[in-house]
Amino acid sequence: MPISVAVGMQWGDEGKGRAVDLLSENVEIVARFNGGDNAGHTVTVGDKIFKLHVIPSGIIHAHTIGVLGNGLVLYPGTLLQEIKTLQEAGIEISPKRLWISDAAHLITPAHRLLDQAQEAALGKSSIGTTGRGIGPAYMDKSSRRGLRTGELLQSEEFKKKVRQHFIDANEMLTVYYHQPAIDIQTMTEEFTALASQLAAYIKPVGTLVRAALKSGKNILAEAAQGTLLDLDQGTYPFVTSSCTTSAGIFSGLGIGIQPVERVIGITKAFQTRVGSGPFPTELFDATATFLRGSGSNPWDEFGTTTGRPRRVGWIDLVLLKYAIEVNGVTELFLTKMDILSGLETIKYCSAYQKDGKTICELDFSGSATEMERCLPVYQSTPGWKDDLRLIRKWSDLPNVVLDYIKIIEDFCGVPVTQVSVGSERNAVIKR
Ligand code: GDP
Ligand code: IMO
Ligand code: MG
Repeated sequence: MPISVAVGMQWGDEGKGRAVDLLSENVEIVARFNGGDNAGHTVTVGDKIFKLHVIPSGIIHAHTIGVLGNGLVLYPGTLLQEIKTLQEAGIEISPKRLWISDAAHLITPAHRLLDQAQEAALGKSSIGTTGRGIGPAYMDKSSRRGLRTGELLQSEEFKKKVRQHFIDANEMLTVYYHQPAIDIQTMTEEFTALASQLAAYIKPVGTLVRAALKSGKNILAEAAQGTLLDLDQGTYPFVTSSCTTSAGIFSGLGIGIQPVERVIGITKAFQTRVGSGPFPTELFDATATFLRGSGSNPWDEFGTTTGRPRRVGWIDLVLLKYAIEVNGVTELFLTKMDILSGLETIKYCSAYQKDGKTICELDFSGSATEMERCLPVYQSTPGWKDDLRLIRKWSDLPNVVLDYIKIIEDFCGVPVTQVSVGSERNAVIKR
């Protein structure tokens, strides 16, 4: 079957945007199925840098259709701005090329305020969310009082629902979180006017994607976030509120369970995390500064969405293997190998010490409290001084680099099929 899925193996920011851009070369449809504008995907093509939060990264290729499935939560302001920015950069964005599911949910400014109030109330125990209203929007969806994009096509009914949403949210904000009241009338007017600008893009995406599959079209599903941020499989409660794994494509796009040709796990050559939560291999020394970069390069480890410095550490093979199994990964796309150049020695975590025992795989389902008890057991391999950025052929990779790749493959049991050595579209080595 012509379905492939690209999914993050870590805590997000693995380079999914750059990988999906490449993987979209030969597909007709590129579809996001989860999350919202908490995601930040950077795609570099020549001297152009695209920072996408919602629209699938594959949209930059002129032949693709970008799909936003029912599994998403959408903030109209971000989406409209993204459409405009892409159009100004010469990318055609029209209802022909961008389909938004009529069953996706809307994020409102009140969801954002609630997200921020909830985080403030948690104080030191906060999750470190992006503040984009993701959790509260999914909460309304689960409580069956969410606002679906399809409803905005019935403008009078929609306005009533939006008004009721702001009344309810206002109650929560003022009574529960002791925050200032919102202006219900103004917010209702502004939000409905903004959201209605999306009307032309709204379609029965499930029906269209199923028809595309029947006619043999190739679909690449693009996950946002990473496996370790998955609501069920991630380091709960320090996770996002959606299904970030390959399993999410069926419910998040409205297609039946069917064979997936390729599940491409995108992983960085080291580990990063933004926000709170356990991170067994986290570093705080000079190597951390080296891996993070100073912020002077666009690819340095500072969040695309919030600008926060990312936490960094050595690659965690125990978690990588877990992510591979959870997603049914068939191959790995390894990014940021160029960043490791210059390190004397590279460490990798191949086991944990937990409660006095050595474990090589998780004996729990991702829980943060359990993971806090895991101490990394490291092995090391020689680093390299070579600059990898201009290498384009597998056979030109230095042996020490191939050794590091082999360690990952042997531990995880899946092949590395592509190695990225720069942020630019062409800076990749296919096996
Ligand atoms: P995503 O959320 O998974 O799409 O990842 P982000 O775009 O948030 O973060 C990855 C960053 O690394 C972006 O700035 C990419 O341009 C950059 N990047 C991706 N692959 C490579 C690589 O192989 N080398 C370098 N130097 N940068 C890369
Ligand atoms: P991409 O797609 C990295 C993290 C937040 C926080 C947690 C919950 O660019 O990889 P949320 O706002 O979703 O309620 O925050 O999830 N987070 C991400 N971290 N990359 C992302 O997306 C993320 N999206 C959410 O930092 O820890
Ligand atoms: Mg990102």
